[in-house]
Amino acid sequence: MSQPHQIDYNNLPAARENSSAAAKQAVSFCERDFLTMAKVPPLHKVLPSALIMPEEGLIDFSKELELDWPATIPDLLAGNSKLAAGESTALGDGAGGLVLLVLRGGGSLANSEETVELRPGDIACLPGNQGIKVTAGKSGISYFFVDDSPLVNYLGWQVKTTERTQFTHFTAEQLKQKLDEYEAAGITASGVFLSHAGLPDEKLVTPHLFAHLNRLMPGARNTVHAHTSPALTYVIHGGNNCFSLLGEPLVNGEIVDPARVDWVDGQLSITPPNLWHGHFNDGDEPILSLVIQPAGLYYNDRTMNFQFADQQ
Ligand SMILES: [Fe+2]
Repeated sequence: MSQPHQIDYNNLPAARENSSAAAKQAVSFCERDFLTMAKVPPLHKVLPSALIMPEEGLIDFSKELELDWPATIPDLLAGNSKLAAGESTALGDGAGGLVLLVLRGGGSLANSEETVELRPGDIACLPGNQGIKVTAGKSGISYFFVDDSPLVNYLGWQVKTTERTQFTHFTAEQLKQKLDEYEAAGITASGVFLSHAGLPDEKLVTPHLFAHLNRLMPGARNTVHAHTSPALTYVIHGGNNCFSLLGEPLVNGEIVDPARVDWVDGQLSITPPNLWHGHFNDGDEPILSLVIQPAGLYYNDRTMNFQFADQQ
């Protein structure tokens, strides 16, 4: 019976001249050094829990995250953009996908096949690197966006658009209709989970990005839970007494000595991975937020690990 291989590190033939460029790229180390290579502390030790978005600009924590490219959290970049009347820009360069929420004004969004009108409250989800253009209307346009360019930069991979990542437009009217339906059905803590027709199982807007227009009616809450994916949450309407609690450890389903983050309109909250957290609307107005997570990585790896504290 033949051997399945001829590998014998103890009896190698005469050494080759190891001068190729490829051989010079080789780096190796022992387990001790492998285990000490993590250089960045947990996100909640280096990033704020929340900040107010500037009218215009990126939220760039690349210094804190020790990355060589703009990033808000390791895999996502958030920002606010503002275009004057008639100005135009391409979206999603260098990203796998991008989610955009129109904040003020209006305009249009166009790929090679169609042009759609944008109004406040619209959400668009786009493949990256397609030259999809946003153009401001006569009163200009302001929008919040999140893309996954940090992940693409990290991997150094080329992004290819497939039927799983297509230009998707959720109009403000469609979103309002869904919110009304859920309210009529007595659903107080849900909002609208957004998805793309090419991702029927994943329930994501791109293979990487999760998007959720979260609404909590007065008295409603997203009870304490944790998940592997970090989250960026843009507060559209924070109401008059809505807050998040975050922290660890958990005792009897409650976070011990949690940090409290009050919700303010225009705030961006950063939820670190695997940290226990909950959102509580103790005010008398419904609250609305847009939650974006790089959840596709964890979905594909079967490591979403969504857990509720009261089921521990
Ligand atoms: Fe969460």
